Amino acid sequence: MSRELGNYNKRRENRIWTKDKCIKLVICVMIVPVWLTSMFYNLASVQRVIFTTKLASTSKHLFSPSHDLQLTEHQHYCDVSLRNTSLTYRFIDDAISYMKFRPRRAVLPEAYIHFTSGCSTYRSNRGFLMKNSTKREESFPIAYTLMVYKHVEQVERLLKAIYRPHNVYCVHVDGKSPLHVFKAIRSIAYCLPNVFLVSNRTNVIWGEFSVLEPEINCLKELFVHKVKWRYVINLTGQEYPLKTNYKLVMILRSIKGANDIDGSAAQIGSKGPYYSRIKGRPPPPHGITPCKGLVHLAASRKFVDYVLHNKTALDFLEWCKSMDIPDETYFNSLNNNKHLQSPGSFTGDIEDETRDSFIRYKIFDYDYGKCGSKYTVRGVCIQGITDLHLLTTSNKLFVNKFMYEFQPLAYDCLENWYFNQVKLEMAGQLEFNTTVYEKSTIVRYRYTPPEVV
Ligand SMILES: *[C@@H]1O[C@H](CO)[C@@H](O)[C@H](O)[C@H]1NC(C)=O
Ligand SMILES: *[C@@H]1O[C@H](CO)[C@@H](O)[C@H](O)[C@H]1NC(C)=O
Ligand SMILES: *[C@@H]1O[C@H](CO)[C@@H](O)[C@H](O)[C@H]1NC(C)=O
Ligand SMILES: *[C@@H]1O[C@H](CO)[C@@H](O)[C@H](O)[C@H]1NC(C)=O
Ligand SMILES: *[C@@H]1O[C@H](CO)[C@@H](O)[C@H](O)[C@H]1NC(C)=O
Ligand SMILES: *[C@@H]1O[C@H](CO)[C@@H](O)[C@H](O)[C@H]1NC(C)=O
Repeated sequence: MSRELGNYNKRRENRIWTKDKCIKLVICVMIVPVWLTSMFYNLASVQRVIFTTKLASTSKHLFSPSHDLQLTEHQHYCDVSLRNTSLTYRFIDDAISYMKFRPRRAVLPEAYIHFTSGCSTYRSNRGFLMKNSTKREESFPIAYTLMVYKHVEQVERLLKAIYRPHNVYCVHVDGKSPLHVFKAIRSIAYCLPNVFLVSNRTNVIWGEFSVLEPEINCLKELFVHKVKWRYVINLTGQEYPLKTNYKLVMILRSIKGANDIDGSAAQIGSKGPYYSRIKGRPPPPHGITPCKGLVHLAASRKFVDYVLHNKTALDFLEWCKSMDIPDETYFNSLNNNKHLQSPGSFTGDIEDETRDSFIRYKIFDYDYGKCGSKYTVRGVCIQGITDLHLLTTSNKLFVNKFMYEFQPLAYDCLENWYFNQVKLEMAGQLEFNTTVYEKSTIVRYRYTPPEVV
């Protein structure tokens, strides 16, 4: 079986190698006469072409995230988009037509069954990091819940970035996903220690309790897992980290038990735009004011303990079953009702719009000007090459979101950037300034339960 995998990869590489060779040949044929001219006229632009060609043939990528990156042009587009705050229209057009004529070779879900038949070969071929984490990371495990429903390869690439063997990952594959998608993800999970599928699969229906259910099932299983994680982060298959595991650990340590879960009572109150979600329902128990917020979170272990086991929280969960879109209210309310004094919760002004939140880089259509790609789906900006510079310089932890078919270069470039950061860390570059997180309002106004003596 592992021979099959080897052959598959060889065929893949051959194909890439041939294409690579062809492109180089064409470039050479075109360049030689011009190059001769440039010897006389010293054309700077031509020198650039030769330089980038050389760069591509000498640079090997440590974790070979995408074979395409070994191509000169690919690398060039990444370098420019990562570096430049605003790209020229000419460059964007060129990049888009480049992507059009070089569509990504995606791995079919069916192939994963064979890929994963030899786990250690699979892990090393696909570049999973199995060692070389720092002591600091190992003593601060992170738990993840990962909600997925399609695009196995995208899920695999996300896992590859966030995976460290000392962390723990609970994956839920939507009950509606095709069987081959489920099987592929199950076979990937099987090869990765501490990655498991949640035991109960749910048919997720947007807006209903079924969105919250797999999340809570995952949290339950994570909580009793042998890995004593310190924080939990939840993701969907369409997100990507903007911080390495090392930096995430530095950040989560620096927020000192605070949760990053936003929420506003005004938004869902009787004068708010989301009032219909709770209108006509009985009042919530325990004097809880419902809040509406984003579905993304970073929560401390103590908070999750509270959410899963405290009677007040469980009563509120029952109440949430009667409302619409409870996933934007449940955790958000428990973190933003001062009187509950839940661990790490927010005790400041919840309606203050300047309140800090680091968990996601996410642009909504009312911020349309900030959506570089100018492409939104259900009101959320889909990241493209024009967004890369902002993504990589942002202080946010993860980005939402990537559609796997849209501007595939953007994902490749971000992935390459991410693994370069890891590489630098492994080479000993471990300074990271956490001041902005430490001094944030979520830390300043967090509720810390008194120590039990
Ligand atoms: C990159 O940015 C510089 C200015 O910062 C600009 O002159 C140049 O045209 C940009 N390059 C591309 C390819 O967009
Ligand atoms: C990872 O660690 C091993 C020793 O534990 C070392 O030999 C290897 O060079 C390291 N790899 C990287 C990429 O730093
Ligand atoms: C799985 O889900 C069903 C229906 O939601 C529920 O009745 C059952 O108790 C769940 N099982 C576990 C192990 O959580
Ligand atoms: C994250 O968790 C919250 C709380 O369970 C849930 O409402 C939300 O849907 C989850 N978000 C994602 C992206 O999975
Ligand atoms: C449960 O939560 C309520 C309200 O947040 C709190 O007053 C109570 O002390 C908690 N109970 C336990 C056992 O922690
Ligand atoms: C870290 O960043 C803050 C501002 O965000 C700055 O004031 C401080 O000097 C920086 N610390 C170091 C060691 O660079």
